[in-house]
Amino acid sequence: MSLALIMGTRPNFMKVAPVARELDKNDIGYELIHTGQHYDLNMSQAFFASLDLGKPHHDLGIGSGSDNYQTAKTMLELEKIFSESRPELVVVVGDANSTLSGALCAARMGVPVAHIEAGLRSFDRSMPEETNRILTDALSALLFTSCEDANHNLMREGIDGDKIFFVGNVMIDTLLYLMPEIVNSTILDELGLEGKEYMYVTLHRPSNVDARERLVEIAAALESVGGTGLKMVFPVHPRTRQRLEDFGLWARFEKVKNLMLLEPLGYVESMAATRSARLVLTDSGGLQEETTYLGVPCLTLRPNTERPVTIRIGTNVLLDRGPSVITAAVDAVLESGETQGEIPDLWDGNTAGRIVEVVMDHLD
Ligand code: UD1
Repeated sequence: MSLALIMGTRPNFMKVAPVARELDKNDIGYELIHTGQHYDLNMSQAFFASLDLGKPHHDLGIGSGSDNYQTAKTMLELEKIFSESRPELVVVVGDANSTLSGALCAARMGVPVAHIEAGLRSFDRSMPEETNRILTDALSALLFTSCEDANHNLMREGIDGDKIFFVGNVMIDTLLYLMPEIVNSTILDELGLEGKEYMYVTLHRPSNVDARERLVEIAAALESVGGTGLKMVFPVHPRTRQRLEDFGLWARFEKVKNLMLLEPLGYVESMAATRSARLVLTDSGGLQEETTYLGVPCLTLRPNTERPVTIRIGTNVLLDRGPSVITAAVDAVLESGETQGEIPDLWDGNTAGRIVEVVMDHLD
């Protein structure tokens, strides 16, 4: 096996799957390493079959803990594996703690690193993801970017242009690969919903869910939106559920009119619900991109984004003044007609192919 592919959180699986498929096609050996940062059935294993991703060769079982705990523990476990398998290249994706652990451990062991989704910057160092991005990029030998902004960010940080490859968005490979299943999904029927009559909601960032006052504001905003008759579908991330329970707010959310609280959905179901939504309210990075591709209006409950292309040419709007602006923003979308937006360059379903071509050159 010459490569190690690292994944640990739900959005990592969608980014690794197309690359693994492309490596298989080209007969390039790899070991698939799941750090175990996400471990619930519906946050982890459930994705492998639906994404056609083989069972990982290793599951490190890291689990939950502080950012430092997850990063350090993962590095220690990876060191044992890399010492045995001696990969020629370690491939990391995205910006989770598992991403930085893979990059730092490999770099310390003299193994080159490839980073998929390099160069994104929110310029907000209070997010663990931002330090994960900056450090991972600084350590990488091959940096695969999904948009032109990312190239500029990397060049500004002094990264050698020869290491940067603008290949497009690998998440869109997964979206297109699974589009037949997404189109045929029965999730709307199961939930008793019609297309375009509801808002799809996902929230999990610490900045939105780790403080009680913020969650109270969000509850008030959803109560107000629900009061207008708009249905809302909210698959609740385990971090969010935990906080709602800890703060004694779960019952209040359960009572919000027209709000359907669900367990986390699988990838196909989640994309089917997104594709048919009238609009999306989220703080997820991936959904900002997926809604832009699908032409679905997206309200992002964050003061900044590392994915500005989704605002510039896509369907995304930042709600930078917090939950107080949700109701007005939802009204504005409902009153507007067709969504205007374009699909960014190279978000075409062929990104993994371009990545593997570069990787093969590098291994040669
Ligand atoms: C992580 C990533 C974030 C990504 C998100 C996608 C970092 C710093 N953050 O955030 O970038 O957008 O994944 O979901 O890497 N939990 C469970 N079961 C699980 C996983 C988590 O119950 O399978 C609960 C635990 O209470 C845990 C909490 O969720 O403490 C947070 O999980 P963690 O992996 O630390 O971060 P996420 O918020 O999921």
